[in-house]
Amino acid sequence: MENIKTTEEYTGRIKRILITEEELQTAIQKAGQQISAGYDGRPILLVSILKGAFVFMADLCRAITVPCEIAFMCAKSYYNNTVSCGQVQITMDLEQDISNYHVIIVEDIIDTGRTLHDVAGILRSRNPLSLQIVTLLDKPSRRKVDLTADLSLFTIPDLFVIGYGLDCGEYYRNLPYIAEYDETAR
Ligand code: IMP
Ligand code: MG
Repeated sequence: MENIKTTEEYTGRIKRILITEEELQTAIQKAGQQISAGYDGRPILLVSILKGAFVFMADLCRAITVPCEIAFMCAKSYYNNTVSCGQVQITMDLEQDISNYHVIIVEDIIDTGRTLHDVAGILRSRNPLSLQIVTLLDKPSRRKVDLTADLSLFTIPDLFVIGYGLDCGEYYRNLPYIAEYDETAR
């Protein structure tokens, strides 16, 4: 982020820790057990949308104890102010035919829900055996489209958060916890 010049400035914008590493790991272990029990014996494809979900994906897949495959997608959304025009562009697509998989979308955060609503629509049109959404964080107060995750690990208030894959201007993705970003510095 070009307007951060020093490490002091960088750390100064981390307002407070919202979810600790330990809380993240406890919730992820539980989610992994739930997914393992629910899908045991079925062909699972975990699909994460880059970049934000890469850290969550890495930990969640290691908490799953049954056979599963992993895939990544990149999506860009175009919206005019508040109205979704359903324009999501897949900039990197899956390589496999998903019609023989139970697909689980692994997302970092659901905010307005627009991106995931469109991505889920695209994946659903490819006829997977089933489609579920797992999100680490959910900001339901910000929702603009009808979208509910099948599994949400933490519900958070309307704050801008960073860390554990989530960025502000591409920084902070490597923080091991979820923190509130100091909006006054934005
Ligand atoms: P949506 O289409 O509004 O649900 O957009 C969700 C995407 O916006 C997420 O995948 C994040 O990349 C980004 N986003 C939403 N809220 C936050 C936040 O608090 N911190 C960092 N990124 C966020
Ligand atoms: Mg994302």
